Amino acid sequence: MDRIAITGGARLEGEIPISGAKNSAIKLMAASLLTEEPLRLTNMPRLADTRFLGRLLQRLGVEVAESEGADGPETLLTTPEIVSGFAPYDLVRQMRASFNVLGPLLARSGQAKVSLPGGCTIGARPVDLHLKALETLGAKIDLHEGYVYAQAPRGLKGGQIDFPFVSVGATEHTLLAAVLADGETVMTNSACEPEITDLADCLNKMGAKVTGAGTPTIRIEGVSRLSGATHAVLPDRIETGTYALAAAMAGGEVRLTKTRSDFIQALIDKMVEAGVDVTSHADGLTVKRGGGRLKAVELTTDPYPGFATDLQAQFMALMTLAEGESVIRETIFENRFMHAPELRRLGADISVQGGEARVRGVAALEGAQVMATDLRASVSLVIAGLAARGETVVNRVYHLDRGFERLEEKLGACGAQVRRLKGDGAEEVE
Ligand code: EPZ
Repeated sequence: MDRIAITGGARLEGEIPISGAKNSAIKLMAASLLTEEPLRLTNMPRLADTRFLGRLLQRLGVEVAESEGADGPETLLTTPEIVSGFAPYDLVRQMRASFNVLGPLLARSGQAKVSLPGGCTIGARPVDLHLKALETLGAKIDLHEGYVYAQAPRGLKGGQIDFPFVSVGATEHTLLAAVLADGETVMTNSACEPEITDLADCLNKMGAKVTGAGTPTIRIEGVSRLSGATHAVLPDRIETGTYALAAAMAGGEVRLTKTRSDFIQALIDKMVEAGVDVTSHADGLTVKRGGGRLKAVELTTDPYPGFATDLQAQFMALMTLAEGESVIRETIFENRFMHAPELRRLGADISVQGGEARVRGVAALEGAQVMATDLRASVSLVIAGLAARGETVVNRVYHLDRGFERLEEKLGACGAQVRRLKGDGAEEVE
């Protein structure tokens, strides 16, 4: 297994172009199941997760062709017919978002057998809201031996779905099914994340009739068929926020391009409060930090437009060196502080109780061997390593590869001392 070694202390100076959003790309790819015509996705990130979903889609009947277009990486997805409605456990377990093929399979071919995803390191992550929404659309759902057997032989029907709490996945999954349902679907208390708007925009280009995406109430007028389309994946706001925090941690001046600062306004507000200089511009933002110490700030994660849970670990890394005590509350996932003990290995002073972490800033961190536990936790360790004395080695880098494209290259271009160590597998033993 590969590892990442970071030698701390280098200031970052330069420019980092942001890639297309992983969490949008994988839902957009699933939308290709809804039509026999080609869906061309541009600004595609090349990540372990997109490759992985591509392989699952191929088993279901999607032809997947990757190429380099005028504006960067593209993926062309064409599904002449659904050849299988079966998504096995091994595939869904490895990437939960694979579960989202259920809705489109059901909408296009009237049946599907998809494994339940199970929990993961950040929480139990049930899919009850997804299943309830599909039932409201008329699907017959049975659960046997860890699988969802779903049927809608006469097609899905529009319905009224009131989500009891905000779920990004359930909102997207319902959208992916309701676009081909007969009649109108209204979803209330929907998630408002930019990735939802991106999915709705793409579906509308394919001929769907979706209004209200980006607000809590989304209306979908079902259509009988969808066509192909070309759609550019929106910029990755979590990658944007991560590099903004990396620049703040290491010091220096970094310009993040091909992105949008408004997607991370809640983060920018907290960075400014902590003493980081952030300037927005037309194609992104510039993050600047001089030599002074940052101030500790409090934050609570929330659904968009609140502070993103996917940036909580990275912000905690920044707070390890801030002056004072920072209180960080995680409200989205029940077990999302797995990075805290690893940050402590670098010398951070963090205590966790339930959904609240207290970070008392220390004067310096010291490099050490640390273990990545999930995607965003791993990158928080890289950020900490940028400012730690000596060398930090992050093990289990496959987590990082799921969601950060060419991380060493992007940070390295700004002067960071980050290199990949090719593993011999020895450290895979737990
Ligand atoms: C998406 O997960 C993202 N993943 C996550 O990013 C992100 O952290 C999360 O949204 C919140 O922003 C993808 O887009 C692939 P939710 P999702 O449904 O859709 C509970 C990353 O690192 N819930 O909004 O799974 C759930 O357990 C990942 O890129 C139910 O109880 O998140 C959680 O506590 C990690 N029942 C809360 O709702 C359900 O049926 C919010 O989850 C669905 C969710």
